[in-house]
Amino acid sequence: MTPVRHIGVLTGGGDCPGMNAALRAIVKTALHRHGLRVTGFLDGFAGLTEDRSRPLGFDDVSGILEAGGTILGTSNRHDPFRVPVHGERATTYCDRSDSVLATLARHEIDALVVIGGDGSLGIADRLARRGVPVVGVPKTIDNDLAGTDVSLGFDSARAVATEAVDRLRSTAASHHRVMVVEVMGRNAGWIALEAGTAGGADVILIPEIPWSYEAVAQGIRDRTSRGRRFSIVVAAEGARCPGGGAVVRQVVEGSPEPLRLGGVGAVVAHALEVALPFETRYAILGHVQRGGPPTAADRMLAIRLGAAAVAVVADRAFGSMVALAGDRIAPVSIADAVAAPKLVDPRGERVLAARYVRTSFGDEMA
Ligand code: F6P
Repeated sequence: MTPVRHIGVLTGGGDCPGMNAALRAIVKTALHRHGLRVTGFLDGFAGLTEDRSRPLGFDDVSGILEAGGTILGTSNRHDPFRVPVHGERATTYCDRSDSVLATLARHEIDALVVIGGDGSLGIADRLARRGVPVVGVPKTIDNDLAGTDVSLGFDSARAVATEAVDRLRSTAASHHRVMVVEVMGRNAGWIALEAGTAGGADVILIPEIPWSYEAVAQGIRDRTSRGRRFSIVVAAEGARCPGGGAVVRQVVEGSPEPLRLGGVGAVVAHALEVALPFETRYAILGHVQRGGPPTAADRMLAIRLGAAAVAVVADRAFGSMVALAGDRIAPVSIADAVAAPKLVDPRGERVLAARYVRTSFGDEMA
């Protein structure tokens, strides 16, 4: 068995706090503990398809532990198996995974570490099927990757969203308003559920629990009857509107990822202002949740996952994603992790605990 001497690393998908911390851990562990060389590929998988990279040494990762974003750049649009070719009349797509294999061979890369969410790790899985020795590190503020208790970036996004709820509560209370806070999370309600519960929201709307305007309005009326003259509603961007069950989104023509979620906060705020005798405002937190320094918990997770990823590479346990299981970091199969998203269990203990402290999910259950 040929020993691993040179590893490639890339950061793919939407950026998040903790990506740089993971990169630093991978480079330092590879150099210091295993005596390996490391090359970083730029802008996610685009750097592999187009052969754009830079060598990574101790100096390159010094001082980036607390820096948000990723020093390698990233992309949540480039998929080497589906690269758009813009013709005069139409856009067609071609498979350029051969270019990825050629880049890896040219640089004599023995293993590739992918720091990514379900999209990037889905591509990593397809490359693994083509014989690329891959190891994954789970990151996504959405926390929807299966196989790991928590993904890198979630804790930081949840902290930002919780602080926002705290800040919005004081202004809602002063003005006796309803404040609707829209958070990210794509089709999973993790950020809304946990930032909403931790921030003491009165109503939380998530994709996993069908809700109605009437039940949301009733929850707020009930508060009013208890003497509360303001309310906080936290809405996940993927929360489906009642009736047809559609998410509020924008279709971006010609984009490889044409569905952009966002806007449910404004829709809910408008409906509540019509239904209730309260002034209503909304705030969309958006990419603020993805920027800035990682929390201490995310830094620790990044360092543990990064160090473990290099150990898994050294063991040649390819096709694995390092994951948090309880208090342990252990490898799981990338294929299993990307097979189906990890969603909030509507009957789970987190949702129940929130209900017990009188949080409404906009449904009929108390
Ligand atoms: O997957 C992370 C995420 O921030 C989602 O929560 C959100 O829907 C999406 O990415 C936004 O993507 P973009 O950065 O392309 O707007």
